[in-house]
Amino acid sequence: MTAEEESNSTGQSPEAGSPDVPEPAARQEREAAAEPDPEPRPRDGQAETVGTRSSVGRRALLGWGGAGLALGAVAAGGTATALHNDEADAGSASAGQAVPFHGAHQAGISTAVPDRLHFAAFDVTTEDRDELIQLLKDWTTAAARMTAGHAVGEGAFGPVPESPPDDTGEAAGLKPSRLTLTVGFGSSLFDKDRFGLAEQRPEALVDLPAFPGDKLEKARSGGDLCVQACADDPQVAVHAIRNLARIAFGKAAIRWSQLGFGKTSSTTPDAQTPRNMFGFKDGTRNVSGSDKKALDEHVWVAEKEGPAWLAGGSYLVARRIRMHIETWDRTSLKEQEDIFGRDKREGAPVGKAKEHDEPFLKAMLPTSHVRLAHPDAHNGARILRRGYSFTDGTDGLGRLDAGLFFLAYQRDVRRGFIPIQRSLARHDALNEYIQHVGSALFAIPPGVRDKDDWWGRELFS
Ligand code: HEM
Repeated sequence: MTAEEESNSTGQSPEAGSPDVPEPAARQEREAAAEPDPEPRPRDGQAETVGTRSSVGRRALLGWGGAGLALGAVAAGGTATALHNDEADAGSASAGQAVPFHGAHQAGISTAVPDRLHFAAFDVTTEDRDELIQLLKDWTTAAARMTAGHAVGEGAFGPVPESPPDDTGEAAGLKPSRLTLTVGFGSSLFDKDRFGLAEQRPEALVDLPAFPGDKLEKARSGGDLCVQACADDPQVAVHAIRNLARIAFGKAAIRWSQLGFGKTSSTTPDAQTPRNMFGFKDGTRNVSGSDKKALDEHVWVAEKEGPAWLAGGSYLVARRIRMHIETWDRTSLKEQEDIFGRDKREGAPVGKAKEHDEPFLKAMLPTSHVRLAHPDAHNGARILRRGYSFTDGTDGLGRLDAGLFFLAYQRDVRRGFIPIQRSLARHDALNEYIQHVGSALFAIPPGVRDKDDWWGRELFS
């Protein structure tokens, strides 16, 4: 029985009535290793009033008044996590619940995709390995707090009026908002004579080849480190990146970053499929966050593949893809549908009636996006897409600087993104309307197991 069948065998939708709560298999796996919050203090340093069940955040329960109670409960066997479970099961995006930070895999990959993104790539500016290690430890501590809805360190309002506060403050009073923070390591981090990591460089952390049609900007490509921040509330995502950048001062600096405002794929197939900037449903046939078999086969790096520090991790391809909205909007509906091989209203594959009907590839034009990207055209290879739309104003010529910030996780880019993109770049009819302008590849370490663990510990040990 697959994980998907298993979760459905209860007769319930895996999403427990909400399109947005984390899915059971992924959640259970993460929560099995979940730890209580490091400190019982809400993000804003103020006690919270306990409200309705769906608005009772873990922060509220762990606020000043509830600290003793909650710590006692944890000692008695992880009741805090159980409360969190209830909250997630009953929750919705508006409940703003927390996604567990600790687990076998990092959150932000198979967990449900919230609607907002702030993605940042960093250059490491220190040459000192110990300083880099300290940065990753400090980031981990701050991330565990922020994802649980707490402020960084001593918070935004003290305790020493003469010093800048530990937290910048703009998320004070906001809920955890399903914030996830996912860290990755770029190939440049493994360069010889840099941090002594050359031997640890994974074979699959290749330099992505140049694809036909690429117009990559250096200033929007590469990076030694990356942090993907996803949240329901854009202020929470931006706050997280801002505070991590602040902690990194003198050790790492943001090289480029990207905001995203609407998910274009989901890991929750039973939820309504989101639409991309061309108006098409996007993510219909994605790897589901509850499909353990597919995740093991296509997303998580297996132990035997090596290097050992990456087992349970993944690889992330980020591509900033500009979409020529104005040209697209003058294209007939028929042509738009031919380009994707799906109809625009329902999202059904050519010749079929329903979105989730099995595509018959031969009925599609040989240049259609879906036919070219389908696993049957790539020895069964699948990738987990979780990209976002972006609109960064206009480009000086009155055209929207808009597109898809493509994010795809996979077990090996040499079997996933590279062959798929090679075929798309050569033959996809969509190429007339898009251009890849930014690119990066990162190795994504496994999850932070518990409060003594930190991002990259196995790599640096
Ligand atoms: C702006 C650029 C892109 C747009 C607008 C776009 C849009 C879409 C749409 C509407 C679908 C059909 C619905 C679905 O199954 O999700 C789709 C499917 C897919 N796309 Fe893209 N896509 C873009 C770029 C890419 C890139 C760069 C890749 C990978 C290199 C890719 C890989 C896939 C895959 C694997 C599928 C599923 C095919 C299947 O199994 O049927 N897409 N895309």
